[in-house]
Amino acid sequence: GKAALAFSGGLDTTVCVPLLEEEYGYDEVIGVTVDVGQPESEFDEAEETAEALGLEHFVVDAKDDFASLCMDAVQANADYQGYPLGTALARPVIAKAILEVAEEEGCAAVAHGCTGKGNDQLRFEAVWRNSDLEVVAPVRELGLTREWEVEYADEKNLPVEGGNEGVWSIDSNLWSRSIEGGQLEDPGYVPPTDIYEWTDDPGEETELVEIEFEAGVPVAVNGEELPQVQLIQYLNDLAGSYGVGRTDMMEDRMLGLKVRENYEHPAATTLLNAHEALEGLVLTKEERDFKQEVDAQWSQKAYEGLVDAPLVDALDGFISTTQERVTGTVTIKFEGGQARPVARDSEYAVYSESAASFNTETVDGIEQADATGVAKYHGFQSRLANKTKPTLTTD
Ligand code: ARG
Ligand code: SIN
Repeated sequence: GKAALAFSGGLDTTVCVPLLEEEYGYDEVIGVTVDVGQPESEFDEAEETAEALGLEHFVVDAKDDFASLCMDAVQANADYQGYPLGTALARPVIAKAILEVAEEEGCAAVAHGCTGKGNDQLRFEAVWRNSDLEVVAPVRELGLTREWEVEYADEKNLPVEGGNEGVWSIDSNLWSRSIEGGQLEDPGYVPPTDIYEWTDDPGEETELVEIEFEAGVPVAVNGEELPQVQLIQYLNDLAGSYGVGRTDMMEDRMLGLKVRENYEHPAATTLLNAHEALEGLVLTKEERDFKQEVDAQWSQKAYEGLVDAPLVDALDGFISTTQERVTGTVTIKFEGGQARPVARDSEYAVYSESAASFNTETVDGIEQADATGVAKYHGFQSRLANKTKPTLTTD
């Protein structure tokens, strides 16, 4: 039979090609690379490696689907322990696209090069195990280590390049770039700044940028309407040049392992900050409080690669109702590596200048003095309770 392999041209997926034939007995392997907005150079690498391996190679463009999922993530203010979830969001999109190719090409199996320690195996397989195809995970099943892979690749003369790409394990897409492995695994190791490719070290310069939202979705930057993919790419370049969106963190993976991770995500940080600032203007306090819980649940399922879970559908129902008001503009200031909201404006603002201002006496018939009764009651129960505080005795 034939096996379809999620193929990047990196070390893991390259060694999987001969192993699927030698160890698993598939008589043909096809490689599938899914375009979720990773840099052009990665496609060249995948293409060249596939050619050198004699691997039939398919490239599927899923950028629009992926960008649209990123916009759902914006509406949900989605992050996991501070990381805006790029890899996690992309995996189900990639898995679906590979499954489609595998089915069209009459494959008996789908395969990935993920380790048995990470999250990605779970995200891929959650999608794939909903089909009749066999699921193969050579790196996990054969217990491969990176060292073994390097040696094996050398022995077999496989086309793997050295340099940093070999040292770090990189995963990039429109929403974020992840750098992990090697020395970076040591939480006490200070990463060299050359692990970052999308972000420059922050300098002295600053810039204001205006982001326009329609129903919770960013639609324009500085007055110019852009399709979703381009809007994200544009902000990755711009915000990246100000050093916005670096994360160096300890991440609690699904299996329970704590792992040191480095990410860069300039557009995601900019859009998430802007979106949250706009919600602050247009949503009521009750909505904001409850939405934080909804957003956290959404983010958790997204981290698990389960954006198709019924729970997520239900959460989306709440989220989309709240987003009806999230229309307006936010000004972001790039400064010192931050993307700081410095102004917001919306026709749906839950805000009355005259009510909030220190300079006005009466609003809607309410005078300052009307708060006196409220002030008398405020803290009433605490005062009563503190008056009768029990004294603890020790024996
Ligand atoms: N740990 C991250 C996540 O679960 C990213 C993993 C990315 N993979 C990589 N080979 N760098 O979303
Ligand atoms: C891997 O372990 O294959 C990559 C990292 C992850 O899946 O979390």
